[in-house]
Amino acid sequence: MRDYHEFLDEILIDEDQLRARVAALGAQISADYTGTRDLLLVCVLKGGVMFLTDLMKHITIPHAIEFMAVSSYGVSVRESSGVAKIDLDVRQPITDCHVIIVEDIIDSGTTLSYIRRLLETRAPASLKICTLLNKPSRRVTPVKVDYVGFEIADKFVFGYGLDLDEMYRNLPFIGVVREGAKWNG
Ligand code: IMP
Ligand code: MG
Repeated sequence: MRDYHEFLDEILIDEDQLRARVAALGAQISADYTGTRDLLLVCVLKGGVMFLTDLMKHITIPHAIEFMAVSSYGVSVRESSGVAKIDLDVRQPITDCHVIIVEDIIDSGTTLSYIRRLLETRAPASLKICTLLNKPSRRVTPVKVDYVGFEIADKFVFGYGLDLDEMYRNLPFIGVVREGAKWNG
């Protein structure tokens, strides 16, 4: 496995920027949901994990967490085929819960619109989406996003939960992969 310095083009969002923005999102959610009972954060595995654990420390409203995992079968790492399948579902009924889906990045929008439609059929009290990163220029399936950490350009990024072939999720910053760089092999 290569050292990430070999294919890191630049650090797009550093640790301090992430910390400040995640804290602000947590404060905003806390304000928006003041007085709300049954707040439930549904984290999309695996990319959303680091974001979730940092975000929830800044949410002062009592809340529960759940996890979902979906797979999409893509032709390459970059292109999603648009087919999504549920690998792990939430373990409790979400009816009457105020649900916030917590995701790492919205790219084509296919994954999130699939999850949103599925959860909507279960009649939650409300349903919002919170994503750390948003790449609006890549959108294929429109999806309403309620909370966005950072809007980014069409670049392939990694770190802070986001992977390159399952690796490098641990990095505390969001990095951009150098054009044409290989990170495995
Ligand atoms: P979508 O269905 O195309 O919106 O895909 C969203 C999923 O694709 C995310 O949850 C990520 O797992 C993955 N993804 C999209 N863009 C990137 C990226 O720049 N780096 C790493 N993973 C990405
Ligand atoms: Mg992913």
